[in-house]
Amino acid sequence: MTSTLEPSTTTATAPGNKLRGRVAFVTGGTRGIGAAISRSLAAQGATVAAGYGRNTEQAAQFLDVLNGEAGEGAGMSVHQGDVSDPAECRRTIDEVIERHGRLDILINNAGITIDRTVPKMTDDDWNTVISVNLSGAFYLAQAAMKHMLPRGTGRIVNVSSVIGETGNIGQANYAASKAGLFGLTKTLAREAAFHLARAGKLNDGGIGLTINTVTPGFVATEMVDAIPDKVLDQIKESIPVKRLAHPDEIARVVHFLAADASSYITGQVWGVNGGLDM
Ligand code: NAI
Repeated sequence: MTSTLEPSTTTATAPGNKLRGRVAFVTGGTRGIGAAISRSLAAQGATVAAGYGRNTEQAAQFLDVLNGEAGEGAGMSVHQGDVSDPAECRRTIDEVIERHGRLDILINNAGITIDRTVPKMTDDDWNTVISVNLSGAFYLAQAAMKHMLPRGTGRIVNVSSVIGETGNIGQANYAASKAGLFGLTKTLAREAAFHLARAGKLNDGGIGLTINTVTPGFVATEMVDAIPDKVLDQIKESIPVKRLAHPDEIARVVHFLAADASSYITGQVWGVNGGLDM
């Protein structure tokens, strides 16, 4: 008898133990791609601390969902803080470590768009997007690495965008912030390896301290809801696989890069974009 493989009806990844015992802080971790990342890390056994900008009620609801999925005594947490403010970044990292006793994984996912073509873009439009998307990732990585470097292990994953590679009309600020993450990622990766080598902590077979970036294409979230239908249809037509990504499809790449098994991958930019940048 021959058997055929049925098409998968869900994009969710099966639960596992890849991250058991690990504590992960996911910025913007209570909705959209960030929420999918939080759930995906939790499904692999991590204790998740999800950051959020303003909406405390929505964050509380998400926390209930996360704890509900993880089961009794899961102890997940949510942390309010503006990632564009260096003091708040340091405070939230300290808060997570105080609450959970350690920090193994940082996912810099929080991000915003303020779209306007260059002639119309204000100083404020420029600075605000750079501050949240790029400076925020730096402040948080700096604070997290202070904790990770002495231990000699850790994972940082930055969420960039295919727009950082290609640019986009009306998104000079966003494209520059997302491209900036490439240089930041590679420098953090080099410095992490340098400091570990100097401290004699670069062990063959060890977990290491790695920093990588994922570049999603267009993902079905509230951020994409802002794009007019006609433009969205054109975007889908331009994607080789002819559809948007599901947030889970980004999240499962992030959880792989967050796991011990990814120990030999550092300073890399991972496209998750349905072939958009070929
Ligand atoms: P979203 O708008 O649904 O979520 C963004 C999250 O960032 C929210 O949880 C919000 O609270 C948080 N945030 C925003 N400003 C903040 C601040 N100043 N301080 C702290 N938190 C703040 O967006 P989505 O679509 O889930 O995007 C997540 C990441 O993925 C962003 O970095 C975005 O640039 C990136 N991305 C999204 C794509 C998409 O098609 N949706 C495509 C490529 C990248």
